[in-house]
Amino acid sequence: MGAEELVEVVLPGPVEPEGVQLRHRAVPSPGPGQVLIRMEATGVSFAEQQMRRGRYYDQPALPFVPGYDLVGTVLAAGGGVEPGLTGTRVAALVKVGGWASHVLVEAADVVPVPDGVGPAEAETMVVNGITAWQMLHRKARVRAGQTILVHGANGGVGSVLVQLARSAGVKVIGTASARHHDALREQGVIPIDYRTEDIAARVRVLAPGGVDAVFDHVGGRGILDSWQLLAPGGTLVSYGSASTRDDTGSKQLPVLRLLGRVWLWNALPNGRHAYFFNIWAGRALAKNRFRARLRADLSQVFAALQRGEVTARIAAQLPLARTADALRLAESGTVAGKVVLNP
Ligand SMILES: NC(=O)c1ccc[n+]([C@@H]2O[C@H](COP(=O)([O-])OP(=O)(O)OC[C@H]3O[C@@H](n4cnc5c(N)ncnc54)[C@H](OP(=O)(O)O)[C@@H]3O)[C@@H](O)[C@H]2O)c1
Repeated sequence: MGAEELVEVVLPGPVEPEGVQLRHRAVPSPGPGQVLIRMEATGVSFAEQQMRRGRYYDQPALPFVPGYDLVGTVLAAGGGVEPGLTGTRVAALVKVGGWASHVLVEAADVVPVPDGVGPAEAETMVVNGITAWQMLHRKARVRAGQTILVHGANGGVGSVLVQLARSAGVKVIGTASARHHDALREQGVIPIDYRTEDIAARVRVLAPGGVDAVFDHVGGRGILDSWQLLAPGGTLVSYGSASTRDDTGSKQLPVLRLLGRVWLWNALPNGRHAYFFNIWAGRALAKNRFRARLRADLSQVFAALQRGEVTARIAAQLPLARTADALRLAESGTVAGKVVLNP
């Protein structure tokens, strides 16, 4: 790899954003079945906000290089990899390791980024787009004419989800802080301020018969309302516990509680469905099926982006050397869209 050097961001322990460290080392060569990606864009996800507090459900052992997803160009391929991949732009979901100038990934895990889609744009769609697409079309299986409630409608996942839902002809009620309401209305979303309004009461007025699906990343006690707001035959998709991010104590307990509730609700003969969505579900048991599904779904999201049905929302772009600022910004609650990191 010549004199090129790899730069990566290390999370040394539970630290404030300023505690992340930059590390330099030699660029590795791809092994059999691997590709070496020169990163063009990675990003700050909610997961890193939890990981830096040591509060991610599946917390990686510290120290480690965070970075849930990335987009970049394939620089080199190891043995057994289709040679045509080299030089192409790809996206990858990695959970950790994305905050680096160069990243080794299994070739089977990369998804091609179509021509005309820029790296930062594509980056906003990887973990967020896969999550949004799969919850909407694989779990809730929404149809035109239905009404859904989306919590955090301005967030990374939420903003992609509402756009995909609108393009599928679905009526969307979305919760967000008031400063995001104008932008939501422009997208055809009916906004509710989760900080000041009684969400359940408003939804009952807007959808007296209940909603066909609720997407809830907030967890906590509010999940009861999410369940009760469902119309007969409706689906609750729980996928996070944002309300407990700053709690102390067990990091698994809030999610285990949600899993227990979802299991119980599903077991009751009430005609409604509840899921806890996990983007990694099925990977350990059937890796190739998992990959095929992920590739198909992310490709659908990229196609929607190309058709203009979904717009990438880039809150800011900062270099890896300014990861601390990027984290602060992402956690400030003041920005709309994804905070993207560049090499
Ligand atoms: N299960 C999975 O496989 C999976 C995959 C991906 C993501 N997720 C989860 O999805 C969630 C969203 O991730 P993201 O990257 O989209 O985050 P993000 O961009 O930071 O967005 C978070 C959103 O949540 C809202 N919010 C924050 N705290 C809240 C609270 N206490 N009550 C209600 N709303 C709150 C924010 O609204 P304001 O800006 O208006 O405050 C914002 O709209 C996270 O909880 C993450 O863990 C789960």
